[in-house]
Amino acid sequence: MKYENNLDFALVHDERDVMRAYRSQYQFPQHEGRNMLYFTGNSLGLQPVGVREALMRECDDWEKYGVEGHFLAQHPWYSYHEDLSQPSADLVGALLQEVVIMNQLTVNLNLLLISFYQPQGKRRKILFETKPFPSDQYSFASHAKLHGLNPDDVLVEMQPREGELTLRTEDILSKIDELGEELALVCFGAVNYFTGQFFDIKSITERAHEVGAMAGFDLAHAAGNLPCDFMIGV
Ligand SMILES: Cc1ncc(COP(=O)(O)O)c(C=O)c1O
Repeated sequence: MKYENNLDFALVHDERDVMRAYRSQYQFPQHEGRNMLYFTGNSLGLQPVGVREALMRECDDWEKYGVEGHFLAQHPWYSYHEDLSQPSADLVGALLQEVVIMNQLTVNLNLLLISFYQPQGKRRKILFETKPFPSDQYSFASHAKLHGLNPDDVLVEMQPREGELTLRTEDILSKIDELGEELALVCFGAVNYFTGQFFDIKSITERAHEVGAMAGFDLAHAAGNLPCDFMIGV
């Protein structure tokens, strides 16, 4: 397709957009009586139509059953994660038993770092992309401190080349090679929230493993937006 910067081109492609029908399923903030154009790359998207009713249904069940809502609610709270596992597994290309829905992202990242960031000897550095989501970076720093390390010594924020905004895969791979035995963990946002760059997850993971490091990805902006293939299959 050859891109043309004009209204006719935009209207034709809006018309052909396979996602078009989904637009009406979101609430748009209003500006001077019209739907706002909503291009924010931050995490909170538009409110889906039906959210209010869904929340009120849970409140009604809470009112009606109290703690028994865990079992008697229309969507029992006790086992809600089981109902969400298959759809979530589909979104990230994993098996049913490889996913669980729980907590908030940063809580989960902290839990994962406890298990997977185990600095030992020379191997203590964490490599992440330029401008990671701030709370991710704070987690890395907290975990460095938890191990008695100075974040300035162990956090490595990968910078793009002069005059470029995104990172080249070849540069990421050579940075992993360069850090080699000093590298404990590579942790990137699969899609960076700021630039929208979708990283080559497979190559980065393989190279991290080759040098003996762990690899992890924050899927906040990838899950549900882009094809993911996180199946381990064990
Ligand atoms: C890439 C990324 N990481 C982490 C977070 C933090 O998520 P939470 O507020 O669920 O901890 C967000 C969203 O706010 C995000 O977009």
